Amino acid sequence: MNVQARHTADATTVEEGLAIQQEQAKFDSEAATAIAMQNTLLTPRFYTTDFEELDALDVMPVRADWDKLMERMRADPNKGHFRKTEDWDQIDWEGMDPELKAEFLDFLISSCTAEFSGCVLYKEMKRRGTNPDIKELFSYMSRDEARHAGFINDALREAGVAVNLGFLTREKKYTYFRPKFIYYATYLSEKIGYARYITIFRHLEANPEHRFHPIFKWFKEWCNDEFSHGEAFALLMRANPELVETRTNKLWIRFFLTAVYMTMWVRDHARPRFHEALGVDIEWYDLEVFRKTSTIARQVFPVELDIDNPRFVAGCRRLERAMRDMDAARAKGGLGGLWGRISGGTRAALAFASVYTMPVKRQELPESVRLEPVY
Ligand SMILES: [Fe+2]
Ligand SMILES: [Fe+2]
Repeated sequence: MNVQARHTADATTVEEGLAIQQEQAKFDSEAATAIAMQNTLLTPRFYTTDFEELDALDVMPVRADWDKLMERMRADPNKGHFRKTEDWDQIDWEGMDPELKAEFLDFLISSCTAEFSGCVLYKEMKRRGTNPDIKELFSYMSRDEARHAGFINDALREAGVAVNLGFLTREKKYTYFRPKFIYYATYLSEKIGYARYITIFRHLEANPEHRFHPIFKWFKEWCNDEFSHGEAFALLMRANPELVETRTNKLWIRFFLTAVYMTMWVRDHARPRFHEALGVDIEWYDLEVFRKTSTIARQVFPVELDIDNPRFVAGCRRLERAMRDMDAARAKGGLGGLWGRISGGTRAALAFASVYTMPVKRQELPESVRLEPVY
């Protein structure tokens, strides 16, 4: 296969997409890969799980909805989409404000790592699976994520940095999650990914003067892929109702909602110049994304965080300050730094606990699971 002449946007399988990227990796940057290699509380991780348990899932109870979703994913409406076209404006990377450039590159590298994290997990499930339904789903999802990561890397390459994804696959640490945590975490990350992309897309549609990079023009079709991926996890959970019905599992769902929302809040607040350039108020943006995600998640989660409770924003703000103080203390070092880290860590834990223990909204699950990306 002549991979050099081909583009990840046209790859029909994850293997093909990765082979093309491997060929390009000769030019990829060590610095960007080093950032992608980091494993902190706030950087995207790689996951592994009990693939046999996942493979044993039965989709029979949701067969009709499942078949419809698979039909759409099989038709592959976004094949060829994730490539530069005449709509791709030239960017003056050299002339970009250095702070904005640093934050934007950080955003692209972390998005690329997150996309690729999904790709690696889904590809492994596809490889190990024996259940035809599971194999088919994970082959489509890994195909999509390989394209997404490849496209972000195209944008990064123009700035002289790109992530070496083959190196990352081999060298990055994998975190083990039990299958049920994979369902909660990946469902949420797909749906929140959809909500993030569509909110930026709609905002820039109304305020095109803030579109400082062409990649945002691609966000609409992009978010439709993420929406479909989330739908698949929603169906898997609804086909196995104990995942969302028991008392313990409801507590886990609350935990994941709290962790995913609060992590996003802290991450986004670390990029003030990036959001300023987009013309977006970070608190407004985050709350809008949480609102969309929570509305969508009613399809499968019987509990919902009450983001209108004043404790929610107060807790997020406290966590963000505590994390910032911990970073400053880490940079300072010494005994004072150690004390700063301990007290910051305690404040962070208390802020998290205060949001986690808020009264939640409870709801009956709807008769029909499936939703369309209309937000
Ligand atoms: Fe993706
Ligand atoms: Fe996805």
